[in-house]
Formats: sequence, C-alpha cells, structure tokens
Amino acid sequence: MEPIELMRKAREARSLSHSPYSGFAVGAALLCKDGSVYLGANVENASYPLSMCAERNALYHALMEGRKKEEFLALAVCAKGRPVSPCGACRQVLSEFLPPETPVFLGNLELEMKETSVGELLPYAFEEKDVR
Ligand code: THU
Repeated sequence: MEPIELMRKAREARSLSHSPYSGFAVGAALLCKDGSVYLGANVENASYPLSMCAERNALYHALMEGRKKEEFLALAVCAKGRPVSPCGACRQVLSEFLPPETPVFLGNLELEMKETSVGELLPYAFEEKDVR
C-alpha cells in the first residue's frame, strides 16, 4: 500500500476521535504485512490524563485483533495543521512494538506528508533488554 493511501486511512480514522476537551482530533493507521490496516483515533476523558492517543489506539487495536509485532510495516498519523508529530509517550510505546527502521508518516488534512521512522523519533530508546 502506498503511503498516501495509508495516510487517507489515518485521516478517515480521525473522524472517530473523541476529543471534546482539546478539540484536536488525531487519526492513525497501522499497516501489517498481509495488507491489513488497523485504525486508531484519540479518545479523551473528563479526567484528562486518562486520554489515549490515536497512535497507541491503532497499535492496541492491532494487538487485540491478534497481530504480532513482527507483522507491523508502517504507521501513518493525521491531524489538522502541520504534519502531526507523535507525543513522547507514543514514541516509547511504538519503539517497543515496531523495529527502529519502521516508516512513520506524519500528515495533515491536506495529505501533506513527512516520512520519519520509529528510531528517528526515539533514538536511544529504553527497551526490554535494559530491564532484564
Ligand atoms: N494526540 C494524539 O492522539 N496523537 C498525537 O500524535 C499528538 C496528540 C492527542 C492527545 C490529545 O487527545 C490531543 O491530541 C491533544 O493533545
């Protein structure tokens, strides 16, 4: 699947956002090796810190459907304004499940896109082997 198509899906996912507090809707789409795509949008809560970002919801969506980390190919994220950049918490979580070379496409509603990678977003990640 072309990056632009994945970004369109992330933009589509954005319409599922529950973001009455920030008013900032975000969508994400995670592509797997078999061509399947898992969507996520940010889901906020009146107790603000309980909110969940689009990127993590897309990843958890895929995991809950039985996808394994070896299957993830690329992630697209979409929001209004400049091509949206994942927060620090999402970078940490993504680095646990997606190899550093995994492409991450940052985009906006006009489908302007920047390509980066999981490793570029979080160099020197704290990881499993540091804990064991
Ligand atoms: N947000 C995401 O879902 N992903 C990002 O990449 C940036 C921020 C959400 C969190 C919160 O619901 C809203 O955007 C404003 O921070």
